[in-house]
Formats: sequence, C-alpha cells, structure tokens
Amino acid sequence: MTVTIDVDLGDAIGAVPRRLFGSFVEHVGRAVHTGVHEPGHPAADARGFRRDVLDLVRELGPTVVRYPGGNFVSSHRWEDGVGPVAERPTRLDPAWHSVEGNEFGLHEFVAWAREAGVEPMYAVNLGTRGIQEAADVLEYCNHPGGTTLSERRRANGADEPFGIRLWCLGNEVDGPWQVGHKTAAEYGRLAAETARLMRMIDPDVELVVTGSSNAEMPTFGAWERTVLTHTAALVDHISVHAYYQEHDGDVDSYLASGAAFDRYLKATASIIDDTLAELALAKDIGIAVDEWNVWDQRHWNEVEQPRLRSGPPRKHPRVIEDTYTVTDAVVVGSLLNTLLRNVDRVTVANLAQLVNVIAPIRSEPGGPAWRQTTFHPFRAAAAHARGTSVRTTVTGTPIRTAQHGPVDPVDAAATVDERTGGVAVFLANRSTAAATDVRLSLHGGRFTLADAHTVTVPPGATRHAANTEHSQPVEPVPLTGAHPLPHPEGTTISVTLPALSW
Ligand code: AHR
Repeated sequence: MTVTIDVDLGDAIGAVPRRLFGSFVEHVGRAVHTGVHEPGHPAADARGFRRDVLDLVRELGPTVVRYPGGNFVSSHRWEDGVGPVAERPTRLDPAWHSVEGNEFGLHEFVAWAREAGVEPMYAVNLGTRGIQEAADVLEYCNHPGGTTLSERRRANGADEPFGIRLWCLGNEVDGPWQVGHKTAAEYGRLAAETARLMRMIDPDVELVVTGSSNAEMPTFGAWERTVLTHTAALVDHISVHAYYQEHDGDVDSYLASGAAFDRYLKATASIIDDTLAELALAKDIGIAVDEWNVWDQRHWNEVEQPRLRSGPPRKHPRVIEDTYTVTDAVVVGSLLNTLLRNVDRVTVANLAQLVNVIAPIRSEPGGPAWRQTTFHPFRAAAAHARGTSVRTTVTGTPIRTAQHGPVDPVDAAATVDERTGGVAVFLANRSTAAATDVRLSLHGGRFTLADAHTVTVPPGATRHAANTEHSQPVEPVPLTGAHPLPHPEGTTISVTLPALSW
C-alpha cells in the first residue's frame, strides 16, 4: 500500500508548548517508594533519590511533573509530608487501599524535580479538604517569609520559596470512586472559592480546574459547563483525563485510539468556547490533559483491585505495573501525535505516570531500572517536537475500525523549529499486516534527511514484544531506505514504514 503525506510548513496549528511533554508521580503503588525514592538502594543518593531512575527521567525528557495525586490527593494532608522524616505520620490511603509512610513529601518532591530538571505541578485536596488547606499549602510553598507557614518551610530547610506556578484544583471529583466525590455545582463553587483565595495569596499561580475523568462519564459536557460557569473567570486550564486500552483483541480499534482522543479534545474545546461566550468572557482557557496514557483498566478493575482490597492495607504494594508492548508504544506515539495536532487548545499534558505505575520507566526494589516500550516515542517526541506544529494531510485507503470508524492508515504529525530550521515528522503505521510505502512531501522548503528511526516489532517477535528487567529488545532502530526524491518546489522523501511501527 502507498500512502502520501503532505506537510505544509506554512500551515501552523500553533506553537508546541513545552508543557506538552509532562508526566506524573503519584503516591500509588511503587511510583514514589522504590520508584523515584529508595533509601539504601545501591544507586540512591544521600536523600534516597534513585540516580538510575533520575538518569532515565532526564533521558525521557518530561518538562513538568504533577504530584502528589491522582486519587491519592483527595484524602491527603500535605502537612504529613513536611518536617523531620522520623516525625511524619503513617496514614491509611483509602484511595489505593495502602499505608503511606510519608518518607517522601513536598520538600523531597521539589528537590527531586530540580534534579530532574522538571517544573513541579502540585494538586490540592478538594476531596476531604477545602479552601483553607489549599491556601495554606500555597502560602507554605510560595510566600517568601515572615508568616508562620512560610517560616515553617524555611525552618524545614527551604529558605527560598518553591515558586510553584501550576496548581490543580483537586482530582477527578466527577468520579464516584473519588474520595469526596461531588456534583458539578458543589465542586464548581468550591473550586471557584479556592481559586479566588489562592490568587489573593499568589496572583502568579496558574490554576487547573477539574474536568471529566473520561469522555464516557455520563456527566461529560454538563460537568464542564457547570464547573466553568462557576470558575471560568478564575482559572487558566481545565483538565481532561484519557486512558486507552485494547478491547477483546480488537487491535485496529486500539491503534485508532487517537481518533477518540481527538474527538474528546475537540468536544472539550467547544464547551470551553460556548461557556466563555455565554459568560461574555474574553479570555482563553487551555486544556490540561493532566493524565493520559494506555492502561489495561479491565485488568486493574477485575483482577488487581479486588486482590488488593481483599488483604490488609500495606506500604507501597505492587499495583498497576503494566508491562507495555510494541502495540502500546505505537498507540502512545499516535496519542502524542493527537496532542501535537491539538496544540492550539492543549496547554499542558502529563503522561500518567512516570515510574512503575503505568509508566515508561520501571524499576525493581534493590534492582535495576529500565525503559518500557512506551519510553521511546515519548522521548523522541519530547526531544524533537519543537517550535510550531503544522498541518499534515494523509491520503491513502483508510483502515475501518469497529470502535472509531475509518481512520488514516498512517497517523501523522509534524513540527518545524524556526530557530534551527529543523523539521520533525512523526508517523505511526497502523497496519499490523504490511509495511506501508510513504511519499512524504514537505511544502515550503528544501530539506536533507538528517535522521530516521523507528520503534517496531523486533525480528522474530510479535506485536506483544515487551521490555523486561532482563531484556529490552524493543528500542528505536534506524529506519533504513528513506531517501529524498526529486521535487520541483519542496522536498519529497520516500520511506517504507514497517508493519505496526512508530
Ligand atoms: O493514574 C492512575 C489514576 O488514574 C489516578 O490516580 C486517577 O486520577 C486516575 O483515575
């Protein structure tokens, strides 16, 4: 099959926000404990930060990391995670049926974020707590000094304010599973009052109000309208959470998940526009996709969660340590493409999560850390998608899917970096059966081919090939055979994409 892809370098969608390549560290399972933090591990530094994991985080290249939850945050007391470690309380974490020892808390997170070179993004508890506690943690973090809370931060070792800019007003409050679940009206009022007070304490904060937990929520749409009616004047972003999985071996639909993601983002954007118009508010509200990934939630809901809840709560149990395949990597790559094609509306996006729990990086207690398959598309996009995202047009026989209808056989996104003149093109071949010949035409400039790599099924393996602690066969390999063709006023590159490849 031959597919033509036209990339119009003059047809800008928008600037690629650096925050598009964010991630997420929650107190769940082994994300924090034995993930980013493991005192006594041979690779740990004096603070217990695993340097092997930090090296992989830096290589992955996330720009902003959300913390401390997730579902965890909705019953979390931020004060538990500050002060001398030996004096910190041990608490039940009802969200994840666990015990939290708080050995890693706010100061450790900010220090770790600095080491990792990422911007911290902090979520406040609007489940069991409210306006005052949100204001308190903000004052503790960002007020320079001279008040009880800011002096407490200084006494705890941080003389300078943390200067955290990006704050989430709760998490998945629309979900009945959430501790402190609320109706849209209840949450909208609480979020508005919290936002108002937080802005009085620090006018420079950027606030993310909670949108829907997924596009299938019965309240999706109505939730956003009501919440924004209360908060639009006070917030900067509204969140979207989106997780995708393969259902019943329907790999074609799974590989087309980006189509559903795209509809979800566009629907959210229209609701934002309608609500702002109704309120006669002349401002922009961005979409913060502050959790997205592929995740086998059926396994979590039907197998892991019942098993977890049948025993006593324990410290950092092994949960949701999904092992990702080549197929998952191609889906993650195409979800990144979806984000790149929506940069006119998406301001922040966080791959959920970063280490061990549905994560591109895995680590074993006392053992090694390694790259999952999904590490590779994220790393490449974070490294190369710079400057402006430009429109791509794909022409070829569509793939018909049961869940999402017809989709492009090759999923495409492209960016042009005005500073360097570099163009990056990201392609996902959704065909599992055959290699696809692509004629890629770049309009608006003549280019040489600098580099072409692919993540695909290793020789002799299947689409289920995965990386484990012992071997990591799935990694980027040079995409051979790509070559420029004569073109009168641009550049055409002929390239063959292996079956199921990114
Ligand atoms: O990322 C795992 C969980 O998924 C988060 O805690 C929650 O917000 C979402 O349901």
